[in-house]
Amino acid sequence: MTRFLVTGSSGHLGEGLVRTLRERGEDVVGLDLLDSPWTSVVGSITDRDVVRRALDGVTHVLHTATLHKPHVGSHGRQAFVDVNVTGTLALLEESAAAGVTGLVFTSSTSAFGRALSPPPGAPAAWVTEDVAPVVRNVYGATKTAAEDLCELAARDLGLPVVVLRTSRFFPEGDDRDDVRAAWSDANLKLVEYLYRRVELGDVVDAHLLAAARAPELGFGRYIVSATTPFARDDLPELGRDAPAVVTLRVPELARFLDERGWRMFARLDRVYVNERARTDLGWTPRHDVHTAMELIATTGDPRGPLARAVGEKGYHDRHLHALNRLHVPGGDRKQVHHDGWSPAVRANTAGPGTGVMGGRPARRPIGGTP
Ligand SMILES: NC(=O)c1ccc[n+]([C@@H]2O[C@H](COP(=O)([O-])OP(=O)(O)OC[C@H]3O[C@@H](n4cnc5c(N)ncnc54)[C@H](O)[C@@H]3O)[C@@H](O)[C@H]2O)c1
Repeated sequence: MTRFLVTGSSGHLGEGLVRTLRERGEDVVGLDLLDSPWTSVVGSITDRDVVRRALDGVTHVLHTATLHKPHVGSHGRQAFVDVNVTGTLALLEESAAAGVTGLVFTSSTSAFGRALSPPPGAPAAWVTEDVAPVVRNVYGATKTAAEDLCELAARDLGLPVVVLRTSRFFPEGDDRDDVRAAWSDANLKLVEYLYRRVELGDVVDAHLLAAARAPELGFGRYIVSATTPFARDDLPELGRDAPAVVTLRVPELARFLDERGWRMFARLDRVYVNERARTDLGWTPRHDVHTAMELIATTGDPRGPLARAVGEKGYHDRHLHALNRLHVPGGDRKQVHHDGWSPAVRANTAGPGTGVMGGRPARRPIGGTP
């Protein structure tokens, strides 16, 4: 008898997982701070009583609940540690105690952080699981800390865990104002499928395969991103003139963009490589830049059916009140600087421009690598 627990079940991925599992006739419990038709236990992963209750009879855990990149500007570092680190630790320990046979932790390619920033004109980075993360922000810091706890739980507690470093699948517009102003959303998302985007339905498939394979893997860490049409040999030219590489490798995309007056990024800084996930998990992503072109041509929308069904949820208006109430005692977003340090901490540290403690890093110019 299998039973799944999906944390973050009111979110984009959590809903996608619960929908899919229910359609397949599986027994599934959803746990989230926010109530929704996909959530059966309303509460926090930081509350061990809630976690124990939700784990009753559970064999597989799909842990998607998080504070993430959109919350960096509105939630303090302590809140990130509480949810992403303490919450994950609670889930790991309680899952091991409950005899769970496989836990999948949704991580992010953001965990690679600054490892993905070659200087302008340098070859793009070929990003596999072997690239060592270099911290960029509190989101990446807490995701890598949680990944380490996952590895420790596999080793010390014998809990089979698979970490999925997932690239972007959000349907919302880009979080940078200048990028949103300069690019149509469909143009932007289409070209992201070349190197740094994945479709929600494929992310769901990867999670379910990882849950099934966890016992034989013991521990594993995989990049989950659409299959790139680029090869390693393309990296120097991608860093100098990405449209030229597209004309050579994916001429149908060059024509597609041309016909619509759309554009390709002038340069790319990284390419995510999904080869290990395909080999070890038996994952066959269905969606890539070609299917995105077909979807845009027929529906005007690059999203697949599951992503369209789940729709846009936003990350702030709906969530802010519940998240602040639980994670930042007595706090609201005005108390947190946009980089996540509290005003008191910032007052005692270096000013803007120091890169680490200073203000938000300078935005890259449009036409570079958004
Ligand atoms: N959205 C993307 O493009 C993207 C890209 C890479 C990785 N990821 C990862 O995928 C996962 C899911 O992302 P998403 O876009 O579906 O996020 P989401 O914000 O839509 O959903 C996250 C859910 O977690 C819930 N949550 C937050 N704190 C909680 C707590 N303490 N207890 C219980 N529930 C809590 C929220 O209420 C929300 O419903 C995350 O782990 C994220 O880091 C997302």
